Amino acid sequence: MNKTLNISLLPGDGIGQEISSEASKVLEWFNEKTDLKINIKEELVGGVSIDKYDVPLTDETLDNISHSDAILLGAVGGPKWESLDFEKRPERGLLKIRKELDLFANFRPAIVFDALASSSTLKTEIIQGLDILIIRELTSGIYFGEPRGVSQIDEENKRGFNTLAYTTKEIKRIAKVGFETAQARSKKLCSVDKANVLESTELWREVVTEVSKDYPDVQLSHMYVDNASMQLVRNPQQFDVIVTTNMFGDILSDCASMLTGSLGMLPSASIGEKKNGKCNAMYEPVHGSAPDIAGKGIANPLAMILSVAMMFKYSFAKTEYFNLINKVVNKILNSGYRTKDIFMKNDKLISTQEMGDLVIKELNNEKI
Ligand code: IPM
Ligand code: MG
Repeated sequence: MNKTLNISLLPGDGIGQEISSEASKVLEWFNEKTDLKINIKEELVGGVSIDKYDVPLTDETLDNISHSDAILLGAVGGPKWESLDFEKRPERGLLKIRKELDLFANFRPAIVFDALASSSTLKTEIIQGLDILIIRELTSGIYFGEPRGVSQIDEENKRGFNTLAYTTKEIKRIAKVGFETAQARSKKLCSVDKANVLESTELWREVVTEVSKDYPDVQLSHMYVDNASMQLVRNPQQFDVIVTTNMFGDILSDCASMLTGSLGMLPSASIGEKKNGKCNAMYEPVHGSAPDIAGKGIANPLAMILSVAMMFKYSFAKTEYFNLINKVVNKILNSGYRTKDIFMKNDKLISTQEMGDLVIKELNNEKI
Protein backbone atom coordinates (compact mmCIF):
# COMPACT_ATOMS: atom_id res chain seq x y z
CA MET A 1 0.00 0.00 0.00
CA ASN A 2 1.20 3.50 -0.78
CA LYS A 3 2.36 5.66 2.07
CA THR A 4 0.00 8.53 2.89
CA LEU A 5 1.38 11.88 1.77
CA ASN A 6 0.80 14.46 4.47
CA ILE A 7 0.48 17.92 3.00
CA SER A 8 0.47 21.04 5.16
CA LEU A 9 -1.76 23.62 3.55
CA LEU A 10 -1.07 27.20 4.66
CA PRO A 11 -3.51 29.50 2.85
CA GLY A 12 -2.22 32.62 4.62
CA ASP A 13 -3.74 36.00 3.85
CA GLY A 14 -5.68 37.87 1.19
CA ILE A 15 -6.27 35.87 -1.98
CA GLY A 16 -4.24 33.07 -0.39
CA GLN A 17 -7.52 31.82 1.07
CA GLU A 18 -9.44 31.68 -2.20
CA ILE A 19 -6.71 30.15 -4.31
CA SER A 20 -5.97 27.55 -1.63
CA SER A 21 -9.55 26.31 -1.81
CA GLU A 22 -9.07 25.63 -5.53
CA ALA A 23 -5.66 24.02 -5.04
CA SER A 24 -7.06 21.75 -2.37
CA LYS A 25 -9.81 20.60 -4.77
CA VAL A 26 -7.03 19.51 -7.10
CA LEU A 27 -5.22 17.66 -4.31
CA GLU A 28 -8.50 15.96 -3.35
CA TRP A 29 -9.00 14.91 -6.96
CA PHE A 30 -5.60 13.20 -7.02
CA ASN A 31 -6.38 11.56 -3.70
CA GLU A 32 -9.60 10.10 -5.08
CA LYS A 33 -8.63 9.28 -8.64
CA THR A 34 -5.01 8.13 -8.49
CA ASP A 35 -2.74 5.80 -6.57
CA LEU A 36 -1.69 8.69 -4.29
CA LYS A 37 -3.06 8.90 -0.78
CA ILE A 38 -3.13 12.51 0.23
CA ASN A 39 -3.97 13.89 3.61
CA ILE A 40 -4.32 17.69 3.86
CA LYS A 41 -3.92 19.53 7.13
CA GLU A 42 -4.53 23.26 7.27
CA GLU A 43 -2.27 25.52 9.34
CA LEU A 44 -2.00 29.24 9.99
CA VAL A 45 0.77 31.52 8.78
CA GLY A 46 1.07 35.28 8.31
CA GLY A 47 -1.60 37.80 9.30
CA VAL A 48 -4.19 35.16 10.15
CA SER A 49 -1.76 33.68 12.66
CA ILE A 50 -0.98 37.13 14.10
CA ASP A 51 -4.71 37.74 14.59
CA LYS A 52 -5.10 34.50 16.50
CA TYR A 53 -1.76 33.97 18.27
CA ASP A 54 0.00 37.34 18.03
CA VAL A 55 2.89 35.84 16.01
CA PRO A 56 3.11 35.12 12.25
CA LEU A 57 4.15 31.50 12.85
CA THR A 58 3.82 29.58 16.10
CA ASP A 59 6.40 27.02 17.21
CA GLU A 60 3.66 24.42 17.15
CA THR A 61 2.80 25.19 13.52
CA LEU A 62 6.48 25.09 12.57
CA ASP A 63 6.81 21.74 14.28
CA ASN A 64 3.68 20.36 12.59
CA ILE A 65 4.66 21.42 9.10
CA SER A 66 8.23 20.21 9.54
CA HIS A 67 6.78 16.73 10.04
CA SER A 68 4.69 16.81 6.88
CA ASP A 69 5.84 15.55 3.48
CA ALA A 70 5.40 18.88 1.71
CA ILE A 71 4.08 22.36 2.39
CA LEU A 72 1.73 24.26 0.12
CA LEU A 73 1.46 27.95 0.90
CA GLY A 74 -0.89 30.60 -0.51
CA ALA A 75 0.42 34.08 0.27
CA VAL A 76 1.09 36.27 3.29
CA GLY A 77 0.75 39.94 4.19
CA GLY A 78 -1.65 42.84 3.89
CA PRO A 79 -2.15 46.47 4.94
CA LYS A 80 -3.76 45.42 8.22
CA TRP A 81 -0.41 44.23 9.58
CA GLU A 82 1.97 46.68 7.89
CA SER A 83 2.38 48.94 10.91
CA LEU A 84 3.48 46.11 13.18
CA ASP A 85 7.04 45.77 14.45
CA PHE A 86 9.31 44.21 11.90
CA GLU A 87 9.66 40.88 13.73
CA LYS A 88 5.89 40.49 14.00
CA ARG A 89 4.96 41.06 10.38
CA PRO A 90 3.33 38.31 8.28
CA GLU A 91 6.39 38.07 5.98
CA ARG A 92 8.52 36.97 8.91
CA GLY A 93 6.43 33.80 9.15
CA LEU A 94 7.28 32.86 5.59
CA LEU A 95 10.96 33.73 5.99
CA LYS A 96 11.09 31.67 9.18
CA ILE A 97 9.78 28.58 7.40
CA ARG A 98 12.38 29.00 4.64
CA LYS A 99 15.20 29.47 7.16
CA GLU A 100 14.21 26.90 9.78
CA LEU A 101 13.65 24.15 7.22
CA ASP A 102 16.74 25.31 5.30
CA LEU A 103 14.88 25.50 1.98
CA PHE A 104 17.85 27.07 0.23
CA ALA A 105 17.03 26.42 -3.43
CA ASN A 106 14.11 28.32 -4.86
CA PHE A 107 12.97 27.30 -8.33
CA ARG A 108 10.99 29.95 -10.20
CA PRO A 109 10.11 28.94 -13.73
CA ALA A 110 8.87 31.60 -16.14
CA ILE A 111 6.98 29.82 -18.87
CA VAL A 112 4.84 31.46 -21.50
CA PHE A 113 1.72 29.44 -22.23
CA ASP A 114 1.00 29.65 -25.96
CA ALA A 115 -2.46 31.06 -25.43
CA LEU A 116 -1.09 33.88 -23.28
CA ALA A 117 1.79 35.01 -25.51
CA SER A 118 -0.22 38.03 -26.60
CA SER A 119 -1.11 39.11 -23.05
CA SER A 120 2.47 40.04 -22.21
CA THR A 121 3.33 43.72 -22.38
CA LEU A 122 6.29 42.67 -24.53
CA LYS A 123 6.01 41.90 -28.22
CA THR A 124 4.76 38.38 -28.87
CA GLU A 125 7.82 37.39 -30.92
CA ILE A 126 10.13 38.25 -28.01
CA ILE A 127 8.42 35.98 -25.52
CA GLN A 128 6.64 33.26 -27.51
CA GLY A 129 7.75 29.81 -26.34
CA LEU A 130 9.74 31.27 -23.44
CA ASP A 131 10.74 28.70 -20.84
CA ILE A 132 13.37 29.88 -18.38
CA LEU A 133 14.12 28.93 -14.82
CA ILE A 134 15.45 31.22 -12.13
CA ILE A 135 17.12 29.47 -9.22
CA ARG A 136 17.24 31.84 -6.30
CA GLU A 137 19.34 31.22 -3.18
CA LEU A 138 16.72 31.50 -0.44
CA THR A 139 18.18 31.21 3.05
CA SER A 140 21.15 33.56 3.14
CA GLY A 141 22.41 36.81 1.63
CA ILE A 142 21.06 40.19 2.62
CA TYR A 143 17.72 38.74 3.76
CA PHE A 144 19.35 37.03 6.72
CA GLY A 145 22.82 38.61 7.14
CA GLU A 146 23.86 40.01 10.53
CA PRO A 147 24.21 42.67 11.80
CA ARG A 148 20.96 44.26 10.75
CA GLY A 149 18.69 46.90 12.19
CA VAL A 150 18.08 50.59 12.65
CA SER A 151 20.25 52.47 15.12
CA GLN A 152 20.09 56.00 16.40
CA ILE A 153 23.12 58.12 15.41
CA ASP A 154 22.06 61.36 16.98
CA GLU A 155 18.80 63.09 17.75
CA GLU A 156 17.73 63.58 14.13
CA ASN A 157 19.64 60.89 12.39
CA LYS A 158 19.13 57.15 12.32
CA ARG A 159 21.02 54.49 10.41
CA GLY A 160 19.31 51.51 8.78
CA PHE A 161 21.60 48.66 7.83
CA ASN A 162 21.67 45.11 6.50
CA THR A 163 24.49 42.76 5.72
CA LEU A 164 25.07 40.97 2.45
CA ALA A 165 27.20 37.92 3.18
CA TYR A 166 27.72 34.53 1.56
CA THR A 167 30.01 31.71 2.60
CA THR A 168 31.82 29.39 0.21
CA LYS A 169 29.65 26.53 1.45
CA GLU A 170 26.40 28.37 0.80
CA ILE A 171 27.46 29.37 -2.70
CA LYS A 172 28.70 25.87 -3.51
CA ARG A 173 25.45 24.13 -2.66
CA ILE A 174 23.26 26.48 -4.67
CA ALA A 175 25.75 26.44 -7.56
CA LYS A 176 25.54 22.63 -7.63
CA VAL A 177 21.76 22.81 -7.85
CA GLY A 178 22.18 25.27 -10.72
CA PHE A 179 24.57 23.02 -12.64
CA GLU A 180 22.57 19.86 -12.05
CA THR A 181 19.39 21.58 -13.18
CA ALA A 182 21.13 22.96 -16.27
CA GLN A 183 22.46 19.48 -17.07
CA ALA A 184 18.90 18.19 -17.24
CA ARG A 185 17.83 21.09 -19.50
CA SER A 186 19.78 22.90 -22.22
CA LYS A 187 23.15 22.72 -20.42
CA LYS A 188 23.41 26.49 -20.16
CA LEU A 189 23.77 28.26 -16.83
CA CYS A 190 23.97 32.00 -16.26
CA SER A 191 25.17 33.10 -12.83
CA VAL A 192 24.05 36.60 -11.87
CA ASP A 193 26.02 38.74 -9.42
CA LYS A 194 27.42 42.21 -8.86
CA ALA A 195 31.04 41.13 -8.65
CA ASN A 196 32.35 44.49 -9.85
CA VAL A 197 31.07 46.23 -6.72
CA LEU A 198 30.23 43.73 -3.95
CA GLU A 199 32.92 41.49 -2.44
CA SER A 200 30.37 38.92 -1.31
CA THR A 201 29.34 38.38 -4.90
CA GLU A 202 32.93 38.49 -6.11
CA LEU A 203 33.30 35.40 -3.95
CA TRP A 204 30.05 34.12 -5.48
CA ARG A 205 31.56 34.35 -8.96
CA GLU A 206 34.79 32.70 -7.84
CA VAL A 207 33.03 29.76 -6.20
CA VAL A 208 30.55 29.22 -9.06
CA THR A 209 33.51 29.15 -11.47
CA GLU A 210 35.26 26.60 -9.26
CA VAL A 211 32.16 24.37 -9.06
CA SER A 212 31.80 24.56 -12.86
CA LYS A 213 34.91 22.37 -13.21
CA ASP A 214 32.79 19.43 -12.06
CA TYR A 215 30.29 20.10 -14.83
CA PRO A 216 32.32 20.41 -18.04
CA ASP A 217 29.22 19.71 -20.12
CA VAL A 218 27.46 22.85 -18.84
CA GLN A 219 28.24 26.15 -20.49
CA LEU A 220 28.60 28.75 -17.72
CA SER A 221 28.26 32.49 -18.19
CA HIS A 222 28.36 35.33 -15.66
CA MET A 223 26.34 38.51 -15.77
CA TYR A 224 26.04 41.57 -13.56
CA VAL A 225 22.55 41.95 -12.18
CA ASP A 226 21.88 45.34 -13.76
CA ASN A 227 22.74 43.94 -17.16
CA ALA A 228 20.73 40.77 -16.47
CA SER A 229 17.59 42.77 -15.72
CA MET A 230 18.03 44.66 -18.98
CA GLN A 231 18.74 41.48 -20.97
CA LEU A 232 15.68 39.75 -19.47
CA VAL A 233 13.46 42.38 -21.01
CA ARG A 234 15.49 42.88 -24.20
CA ASN A 235 15.95 39.24 -25.19
CA PRO A 236 14.78 36.76 -22.54
CA GLN A 237 15.24 33.75 -24.83
CA GLN A 238 19.03 34.00 -24.47
CA PHE A 239 18.61 32.50 -20.97
CA ASP A 240 17.77 29.00 -19.88
CA VAL A 241 18.75 28.51 -16.22
CA ILE A 242 19.79 31.48 -14.08
CA VAL A 243 21.31 31.03 -10.63
CA THR A 244 21.55 34.01 -8.32
CA THR A 245 21.50 35.43 -4.81
CA ASN A 246 18.48 35.85 -2.57
CA MET A 247 17.71 39.48 -3.31
CA PHE A 248 18.72 39.51 -6.96
CA GLY A 249 16.52 36.42 -7.43
CA ASP A 250 13.60 38.15 -5.73
CA ILE A 251 13.83 41.08 -8.11
CA LEU A 252 14.64 39.20 -11.32
CA SER A 253 11.86 36.66 -10.77
CA ASP A 254 9.20 39.38 -10.55
CA CYS A 255 10.61 40.86 -13.73
CA ALA A 256 10.64 37.44 -15.45
CA SER A 257 7.10 36.77 -14.35
CA MET A 258 5.79 39.75 -16.24
CA LEU A 259 7.34 38.42 -19.42
CA THR A 260 4.80 35.63 -19.18
CA GLY A 261 1.83 37.98 -19.11
CA SER A 262 0.77 37.57 -15.52
CA LEU A 263 2.24 37.07 -12.10
CA GLY A 264 -0.91 35.03 -11.46
CA MET A 265 0.45 32.14 -13.52
CA LEU A 266 3.78 31.44 -11.85
CA PRO A 267 4.41 28.62 -9.38
CA SER A 268 7.56 28.04 -7.32
CA ALA A 269 9.30 25.35 -5.33
CA SER A 270 11.66 25.87 -2.40
CA ILE A 271 13.75 22.82 -1.68
CA GLY A 272 16.36 21.86 0.90
CA GLU A 273 18.43 18.80 1.66
CA LYS A 274 16.52 15.96 3.27
CA LYS A 275 17.61 16.06 6.92
CA ASN A 276 16.43 13.85 9.81
CA GLY A 277 13.29 12.96 7.93
CA LYS A 278 12.10 16.57 8.17
CA CYS A 279 10.10 18.29 5.49
CA ASN A 280 12.38 19.76 2.83
CA ALA A 281 9.99 21.31 0.35
CA MET A 282 7.51 24.15 0.16
CA TYR A 283 5.47 25.14 -2.87
CA GLU A 284 3.91 28.55 -3.37
CA PRO A 285 2.80 30.92 -6.08
CA VAL A 286 5.30 33.68 -6.85
CA HIS A 287 2.59 36.34 -6.46
CA GLY A 288 1.61 37.95 -3.18
CA SER A 289 -1.62 38.20 -1.21
CA ALA A 290 -3.12 40.93 -3.45
CA PRO A 291 -5.22 42.57 -0.69
CA ASP A 292 -6.85 44.88 -3.25
CA ILE A 293 -8.73 41.99 -4.88
CA ALA A 294 -9.01 39.62 -1.92
CA GLY A 295 -12.44 38.17 -1.23
CA LYS A 296 -13.83 39.17 -4.61
CA GLY A 297 -13.51 35.76 -6.22
CA ILE A 298 -11.49 37.11 -9.15
CA ALA A 299 -7.97 35.95 -8.28
CA ASN A 300 -6.20 33.53 -10.59
CA PRO A 301 -5.75 30.17 -8.83
CA LEU A 302 -3.50 28.73 -11.57
CA ALA A 303 -0.15 29.69 -10.00
CA MET A 304 -1.14 27.76 -6.91
CA ILE A 305 -2.52 24.83 -8.89
CA LEU A 306 0.70 24.75 -10.91
CA SER A 307 2.55 24.78 -7.58
CA VAL A 308 0.69 21.54 -6.77
CA ALA A 309 2.04 20.21 -10.07
CA MET A 310 5.58 21.14 -9.02
CA MET A 311 5.00 19.33 -5.73
CA PHE A 312 4.14 16.12 -7.58
CA LYS A 313 7.28 16.41 -9.66
CA TYR A 314 9.86 17.55 -7.10
CA SER A 315 8.61 15.94 -3.88
CA PHE A 316 6.87 12.79 -5.07
CA ALA A 317 8.63 11.99 -8.37
CA LYS A 318 5.29 11.95 -10.19
CA THR A 319 6.30 13.77 -13.35
CA GLU A 320 3.28 12.30 -15.11
CA TYR A 321 0.97 14.22 -12.77
CA PHE A 322 3.02 17.37 -13.22
CA ASN A 323 2.55 16.97 -16.97
CA LEU A 324 -1.14 16.18 -16.54
CA ILE A 325 -1.88 19.39 -14.63
CA ASN A 326 0.12 21.45 -17.11
CA LYS A 327 -1.69 19.84 -20.02
CA VAL A 328 -5.08 20.60 -18.49
CA VAL A 329 -4.14 24.23 -17.77
CA ASN A 330 -2.96 24.63 -21.36
CA LYS A 331 -6.21 23.20 -22.63
CA ILE A 332 -8.29 25.59 -20.52
CA LEU A 333 -6.29 28.59 -21.68
CA ASN A 334 -6.49 27.44 -25.30
CA SER A 335 -10.27 27.31 -24.93
CA GLY A 336 -10.23 31.01 -24.05
CA TYR A 337 -11.11 30.84 -20.35
CA ARG A 338 -9.44 33.54 -18.29
CA THR A 339 -9.54 35.04 -14.83
CA LYS A 340 -9.49 38.83 -14.74
CA ASP A 341 -5.69 39.24 -14.53
CA ILE A 342 -5.15 37.57 -17.92
CA PHE A 343 -8.42 38.60 -19.53
CA MET A 344 -8.33 40.25 -22.95
CA LYS A 345 -11.11 41.20 -25.35
CA ASN A 346 -13.02 38.16 -26.69
CA ASP A 347 -11.88 35.87 -23.85
CA LYS A 348 -14.35 34.13 -21.55
CA LEU A 349 -14.10 35.79 -18.14
CA ILE A 350 -14.45 33.38 -15.22
CA SER A 351 -14.09 33.51 -11.43
CA THR A 352 -11.49 31.92 -9.17
CA GLN A 353 -13.87 29.12 -8.31
CA GLU A 354 -14.95 28.54 -11.91
CA MET A 355 -11.29 28.21 -12.90
CA GLY A 356 -10.78 25.59 -10.18
CA ASP A 357 -13.92 23.75 -11.31
CA LEU A 358 -12.72 23.78 -14.91
CA VAL A 359 -9.41 22.22 -13.89
CA ILE A 360 -11.33 19.41 -12.16
CA LYS A 361 -13.64 18.98 -15.15
CA GLU A 362 -10.71 18.72 -17.54
CA LEU A 363 -8.87 16.34 -15.21
CA ASN A 364 -11.97 14.14 -15.30
CA ASN A 365 -11.72 14.10 -19.10
CA GLU A 366 -8.17 12.79 -19.02
CA LYS A 367 -7.20 9.16 -18.95
CA ILE A 368 -4.90 8.31 -16.07
C1 IPM B 1 8.84 36.41 -2.65
C2 IPM B 1 8.29 37.52 -1.79
C3 IPM B 1 8.89 37.38 -0.40
C4 IPM B 1 10.38 37.62 -0.54
C5 IPM B 1 8.29 38.29 0.67
C6 IPM B 1 6.78 38.11 0.78
C7 IPM B 1 8.93 38.09 2.01
O1 IPM B 1 8.51 38.75 -2.38
O2 IPM B 1 8.69 35.24 -2.27
O3 IPM B 1 9.41 36.71 -3.69
O4 IPM B 1 10.83 38.77 -0.56
O5 IPM B 1 11.11 36.63 -0.64
MG1 MG C 1 9.31 38.65 -4.38
